[in-house]
Amino acid sequence: MGLYERLSGASAPAATPPSEADGGEAAPAPSAAPEPDAMAERLAQLRRRTHQALVRALGPRLYDTSTSQAQLEQAVRDKLTEVLAGESMPMSAADRAQLTAAIVDDILGYGPLEPLLDDESVTEVMCNGHRQVYIERSGRLELTDITFLDEGHLRRVIEKIVGEVGRRIDEAQPYVDARLPDGSRVNAVIPPVTIDGPTLTIRKFSAEAFTGADLVSYGTWTNAASEFLAAAVQGRTNILVSGGTGAGKTTTLNVLSNFIPTTERIVTIEDAAELRLGQPHVVRMEYRPPNIEGRGEIAIRDLVRNALRMRPDRIVVGEVRGGEALDMLQAMNTGHDGSISTVHANSPRDAIARLETMVLMAGVDLPVRAIREQIAAGIQFIVHQSRMKDGSRRITHVTEVTGMEGDTIMLQDIFLYDEGMGFDPESGRALGHLKATGIRPTITDHLGDQGIGVDVSWFQPEDFARRGRR
Ligand SMILES: Nc1ncnc2c1ncn2[C@@H]1O[C@H](COP(=O)(O)OP(=O)(O)OP(=O)(O)O)[C@@H](O)[C@H]1O
Ligand SMILES: [Mg+2]
Repeated sequence: MGLYERLSGASAPAATPPSEADGGEAAPAPSAAPEPDAMAERLAQLRRRTHQALVRALGPRLYDTSTSQAQLEQAVRDKLTEVLAGESMPMSAADRAQLTAAIVDDILGYGPLEPLLDDESVTEVMCNGHRQVYIERSGRLELTDITFLDEGHLRRVIEKIVGEVGRRIDEAQPYVDARLPDGSRVNAVIPPVTIDGPTLTIRKFSAEAFTGADLVSYGTWTNAASEFLAAAVQGRTNILVSGGTGAGKTTTLNVLSNFIPTTERIVTIEDAAELRLGQPHVVRMEYRPPNIEGRGEIAIRDLVRNALRMRPDRIVVGEVRGGEALDMLQAMNTGHDGSISTVHANSPRDAIARLETMVLMAGVDLPVRAIREQIAAGIQFIVHQSRMKDGSRRITHVTEVTGMEGDTIMLQDIFLYDEGMGFDPESGRALGHLKATGIRPTITDHLGDQGIGVDVSWFQPEDFARRGRR
């Protein structure tokens, strides 16, 4: 077992980064090479001691933005050599190199999380206290062998991430959202709010944004649905992407937003900037949380209102979750059409119900019927997405809002996921796909009038194994 594993307390080498110094580690069976716990503990103590000595010695320089990364790394290495020279513990050159790498990762990077952050196949990292680190890979959760030295070690990594974006986390403000320099989204919560130690959740930013074709290859949607929605976006329809947590709403919103013609001025408003648009003319705005005294919050709603004065051709809102729903609907109904957003909901019908509730949150005394009329006139399509039990993300409904009958908002499904096709008994993979129901959207003629081509074959019905309509 190599030093890195001993230090991080890992039992299997699989989840640790490959290291040349570890070349022969697979050979000795654990019983053949007695590896007393005492040795591992001494190394762990050495790493803790060295880390603390370095933090003390370098102090504020570690967060000083005027020092370049290369200068900082050199300063850390120099100081480290000095500190290690004063240590009496015998170490081979390979062990010393590994210890240095681990400490440099701790100080300059994100400690034991570095290999996970470098691994592109890992999409999410979840630390539940210092002893348990889960990852998501290909949509599935996996427990890793990675651990932190102790609670303080995880806490330092959290403080580093949070400190880098000028935020802080302490007993008074025990949870915080932050972002890594590469754009990955981070949430950290510490005791007393979390009971079993600090908790860190990182949603990694994929190196490349997904395209419509990627979503076809993942089985998320089909060519027909993709082409139809591209036409709908070009034709300035208002679209709401709905789904549960982690269903892939933001990813789909990003793909849809990239269908907006490059000639238009786009204003994006997000809780934490995640969207990546390829168009040249984009203004990005982000929610600002209140400061430590609870003042200075700039809500999504304020930003939506402000966006209307920025001569937008399109407004893309990362997620509607409150009173901004009213401002968005009003904008959609007064000429700012072609807007796209997401909402947390369990079905298209539920998305409508949530919108109603959110409009009520705006604190304006509107009768329910008036709210429904605004919704029916404002939203043309709901694209609903789910995370299947095999981890894949699938669009399950492309639903058109066709108007009102009495007090009810009318919906019709244009594409539906065929749930009846079930799962492969061996691999567990979802076998269904998105199928046209055969209904031609009422928007078709409107798109045709604008010179946007609509191919009737997109709506050619396919047989359903079992109707999964809701
Ligand atoms: N179509 C897809 N196929 C496979 N993986 C996807 C797909 N869409 C998103 N993902 C992955 O799922 C994770 C969550 O995606 P995303 O942030 O888009 O979800 P969300 O619904 O917006 O989540 P939240 O509710 O937290 O805002 C990401 O790691 C992303 O890489
Ligand atoms: Mg999202």
